[in-house]
Order: sequence, then structure tokens, then C-alpha cells
Amino acid sequence: QIEINRPIIIIGSGYGAAVAALRLCEAGKKVVILEMGINWKESGIPYSGLLKPGRSAAWLKRKTIAPFMNIFPLKPFTGALDKFNFKNIDVWVGRGVGGGSIVNGGMAVVPKESYFKEVFPKLDAEKFYNFYFPLVNKELKVNGIEEQFVKDCPYYKFTRVGEAEAHKAGFKTVRVPNVYDFKYMEREYKKEVPRSALNTEVIYGNNHGKNSLDKTYLAKALATGNLEILDLHCVDMITGNEDKSYCLKVRQIDTSGKTVADKTFRCDKLVLGAGTMGTLKLLLSAQDKNNFPLDNTVGKNWGNNGNFMTGRNWVRPLSGGTGALQSTIPVGGVDNWEDSEHSFFTEIAPLPMGVDVATALYLMINRVDKKGSVTYDKVQNRLVLDWNESHTVRMKANADYFVRKMNRANGGTRSHLLFKNGFGANICYHPLGGCVLGESTNVYGKLKEHDNLYVIDGSLIPGTIGVNPFMTITAIAEYCIENLIAQGEFE
Ligand code: FDA
Repeated sequence: QIEINRPIIIIGSGYGAAVAALRLCEAGKKVVILEMGINWKESGIPYSGLLKPGRSAAWLKRKTIAPFMNIFPLKPFTGALDKFNFKNIDVWVGRGVGGGSIVNGGMAVVPKESYFKEVFPKLDAEKFYNFYFPLVNKELKVNGIEEQFVKDCPYYKFTRVGEAEAHKAGFKTVRVPNVYDFKYMEREYKKEVPRSALNTEVIYGNNHGKNSLDKTYLAKALATGNLEILDLHCVDMITGNEDKSYCLKVRQIDTSGKTVADKTFRCDKLVLGAGTMGTLKLLLSAQDKNNFPLDNTVGKNWGNNGNFMTGRNWVRPLSGGTGALQSTIPVGGVDNWEDSEHSFFTEIAPLPMGVDVATALYLMINRVDKKGSVTYDKVQNRLVLDWNESHTVRMKANADYFVRKMNRANGGTRSHLLFKNGFGANICYHPLGGCVLGESTNVYGKLKEHDNLYVIDGSLIPGTIGVNPFMTITAIAEYCIENLIAQGEFE
């Protein structure tokens, strides 16, 4: 048993954690990040593409786990993508230094101000839209694709077809910004630099082009000299000490998942940035096993951000479909949010299978009318999610409406190829909530019933934000940590 004492520990290295690390380091604080995944950048291990899954493809699994692609055998390795299997829904998350930023599609979307106000009525929306969102935009290196490139590039045929069909069906489309460097993409298209997005890389990591957190917030935090990142360090249990400090039971593992050292860390201040599911598991298991005090709202108000996948087969098969070549970075979306009867946003998603499957894939984001809740099962040491068909009734009705209208205008069928009955209600990339800002925590993320514990990640957002969530998670994190530091919480 190795015992290590540190003043401030952050668990996880995704958006919330990376923002907290940078601002604390800039304020002159020494910070340690404990991250269960690997430091991909330092390891030098390349990420694998979708069509040749390798070491980064899955977290300690014998088979790939990406939706529609779970057919490839794997040798277990601490890969970048992991999946929680619940009874009625699967939740995908990123593992590694950079958290979800390693595996996500990089879509950098600011929520509609009216919906942000509805979700967070107590926050100063003006300050978010004038200050925090622009700040985050800059720090995450958000940029937009050139329209001419979308028009000319064969890899964006799926977007052009998707948009033309949406317009024909009477829907409005929007261009979506991203953290992928589109100047790099133009050069990879010309074969001047190694290909990444144009080489099926995304959900198992991008080797080039994507500005994941290891290249932005975390790189800046490391440059202060105040941050230490310990990868392959899995926090299994939190215990509160009498002096209001915390002890963490940590397993250091190798890349096969084998324990190489058991460690105990002690810290005065603890920041949880383990992502919605990671943070909830740490909190609820500590409550169950250690009588760790928690407000009774923890675990409630969970949502899938209205994630609902759907698709259409035989999209213009005679005119070449959506194309065999597809960039992995989505740049188009259908914005139907203002339609009160069928309020949704949907990403026109790529399906880079290497052949033209004449299939259009859509990741819809809907309102969440009925929230779920998360509890802990101590016998199986896993989370249990109360989530079933009754939570997605409206989402399914929206998907049905969208697909019918698209097919009526353009031809095509419901995608039975991708989904049972044509609907993917069980696919969630955006778990949110369970430790909601101002409910389970104070207005700045300080956990109720605690003096030295702060939650800064997706679990603060009450289950829905109406668009892809990392811009909002990052902006909320900036707001929380700025105020927590100003209040002298880390003195
Ligand atoms: P995040 O999940 O990023 O990080 C948590 C970190 O904590 C992980 O690295 C994890 O390994 C670590 N951790 C957890 N438990 C731990 C423990 N016990 N000990 C040590 N470490 C622990 N969003 C968006 O806005 N645009 C997009 O295009 C996409 N696309 C997308 C695609 C896919 C496939 C996925 C899975 C997700 C997206 N997302 C997305 C969602 C987005 O990536 C997600 O919302 C954020 O990464 C969540 O940020 P957090 O700060 O909450 O934690």
C-alpha cells in the first residue's frame, strides 16, 4: 500500500476536469489529475480507424463496441472507448487523458439561448453568451468549414445529399462548427499531410486534426508546471476523513487492466470530473459502502440529452447514395427546434463503412420530457439506470415524423439495416445530470453536505441541453471554477 498526500486532486481529465485543472494551475495551485485511461499522446500508441480496430478501439473488451461495428475481435487493452450496458439503453464514454474529447465527433454547438434559460433559469444567461461561451470557443479552438470545401469535397457528399433531401422535405439545415482543424482537413484532402478524419478516424481517436483536450486545456495547464497527470490510475472508492479531507482508494493498472499497484491518495480538496456516469458511480458507491453523506437529489434528474438515432436506407441509390468516401467529422444538421409539436435537432451523421451503403444516419437530440434516475447496486458493483420506453415516447414520435417526411419527399425506407424497427432508442452518447447544479451542489458545483468536494462535469446539467453538450459542460465548468476560486475555496 503506497500512501500519497496531495493538496488538490481532480478525478478524470474530460472537459470539466481540464477546465478546473487549468484555472487552478493558473492560480498557482499544485494539482494532480487521476485518470483511469491511458495518456495516448505520451504513449505514442496510434489510434485506430473504424475499419481496422486496434488497441484504442475499446476499454478492455474482446470485441469492438462501436454502434453497428461490434463484429471485430480484439485483444483486451485499455482502449479509448467504453460502454455502460443498462437494461434499455447503452451509454458510450471516452477513456484516456482528454476523456470524451478523444472519441467524440468534435461538434461544438452553443445551445439556443432560450433553451439554456429554460434549463438553467437561475444562471446569468447574458454572462454566458457574452463571456463564457466565447471564451470556451477560443480555448477549444472551434472553427468552421469552408462552404466551397463542403461543395467540392467527395468526402462530404453525405452532407450535401442530407441537406438537399432535408430542404426538399421542408426542413431547415444549419452548418455546425467543430474543434477539428478544417484547414488541416483541406490539406489532408490534398494529401499534403497524413489523413485522419478522411481516413475513418474518430470514435477510436483521431491521430491528426482534432483539437482534443490534450492539445488545448490540458496542454496549457501542463505548461504552467503545476499539473501532474497520473494515467492508468483508477479511483475505486472515496472516503471522507474526520478532518474533512478525503482518502481515495486507487488501483494503478497496466494496459491489460492488471493491477500493478494499490495506492491510497489523501487530499484536502477533491474535484470530481469523472463524467456523468463516473462521478455518479463514485458518489453513490461511497454512499452505499461508506455512509458518505449525499443530498437525496444525487442520482435524480438524469437524461440522455434526448439522444435518439435513426436512419434511412436506399437514399438515392441510383445517383450514388451518400458516398463510399465519408469524412468522420459531421458539419451539417437539421434544426427543427422551433416546431413545438416536433421539436428536435438532428446531426446529419457520417457512416464511413468504406462502401456506399446508400444509408443516411441521424443522431437526433430532443427535449427530455421524463427524466431518469441512477442508483447503485452493491452486489454487482454497478450503476442501475431507471430508463425505459416511457422516457423516449416523444423522441420516437419525432424520429418517426422526421423519417416519414424525408422518405415522402425523397424516397427511401426506414433503416432496418441499422436498427431494429428503424429506431435506435438505446444509443446514448450524451449522458447528463444526476448531480445537478444548484440542486445536489451549490450554485458553483460545491457538493451539498461537504466542505471540500466539488463536482465539475456533465452531471451538473439536468439531463438535457438541446444540442451536443461539451460546449455547455466547458462553459459551466469555467463559471464554476472561476467563482469557487474567487470565493477562496482552494485557499
Ligand atoms: P468526460 O466523460 O469527458 O471525462 C471523464 C473522464 O473521467 C474520462 O476520461 C474517464 O476515463 C475518467 N474517469 C471516470 N471514472 C474514473 C475513475 N473512477 N477514476 C479515474 N478516472 C475516471 N459532445 C459534443 O458536444 N459534440 C460531439 O460531437 C460529441 N460526440 C460524441 C461522440 C461519442 C462517441 C461520445 C461517446 C460522446 C460524444 N459527445 C459529444 C459527448 C461528450 O464527449 C461528453 O459529453 C463529454 O466528454 C463529457 O465531459 P465530462 O467533463 O462530463 O467528462
